[in-house]
Amino acid sequence: MLKVESLRVEVAGREILHGVSLEVPKGKVVTLMGPNGSGKSTLIMTIMGFSGYRVTAGRIYFKGKDITEMPVHERVKLGIGLAFQRPPVIKGVKTKQIVEIAASARGREVDPYELAKEVNMENFLERDVNDGFSGGEMKRSEILQLMAMDPDLLLLDEPESGVDLESIGLLGEAINKILGREVEPVEGKSLKEVKKEYAKSALIITHTGHILNYVNADLGYVLINGRIVCSGNPREILRTVEKYGYKECEKCL
Ligand SMILES: Nc1ncnc2c1ncn2[C@@H]1O[C@H](COP(=O)(O)OP(=O)(O)O)[C@@H](O)[C@H]1O
Ligand SMILES: [Mg+2]
Repeated sequence: MLKVESLRVEVAGREILHGVSLEVPKGKVVTLMGPNGSGKSTLIMTIMGFSGYRVTAGRIYFKGKDITEMPVHERVKLGIGLAFQRPPVIKGVKTKQIVEIAASARGREVDPYELAKEVNMENFLERDVNDGFSGGEMKRSEILQLMAMDPDLLLLDEPESGVDLESIGLLGEAINKILGREVEPVEGKSLKEVKKEYAKSALIITHTGHILNYVNADLGYVLINGRIVCSGNPREILRTVEKYGYKECEKCL
């Protein structure tokens, strides 16, 4: 679904990613952990194609297509969707409108009210996007927009940060729903094998690992100082980081 190859990225004239390679297979959820400032958000923003993130070497492939030079809106059309770590406030645009815009960008029509009910956001539809929203409300608004877009690859930048423990369950369930548990049978695969896969794929940056309680992650990467230092079982990675800190991950190198 996604393949990042030896990616070098400069932000404001400084190289932040020094040759990052990772893969998100179809129907799989992949986590990305790492200390603050290691370049996790930079990687996700570059995959989405935002300006200010200059790719100096390496390639990004999505569904087998080289998207390294593709503008953001075309990546969205192809099926990449992002939930920001710190979403911007957009004054003059109502949440309801951005939900409709997000859906139409993917050629879909949705009922914003019906979608909003799933993340307890129905009272926010008439408010300007993220204007005065609490941390948790912003995260729910991000997920609401993703629900409208229905992307094939979800890029989630710390979806649980700033969310109180009570609401994490709601958010986790909504994310699970977008990922889609039900899948069509695949030729040559037993139903049991197929059932393990999600309909969609995701790359999830997580600081606390709380999201692992709700989403069945298959693979985890650790990014330190702009380099992938380790990959493996996401739960094992989380346990190691909790117990010994990121220093231990560097031994993987
Ligand atoms: N717009 C920017 N201008 C200058 N430096 C930036 C900008 N965005 C990110 N950086 C720098 O890039 C590094 C990686 O940041 P980021 O990708 O946000 O890390 P993480 O998400 O892992 O915490 C940091 O040192 C940060 O200060
Ligand atoms: Mg970040």
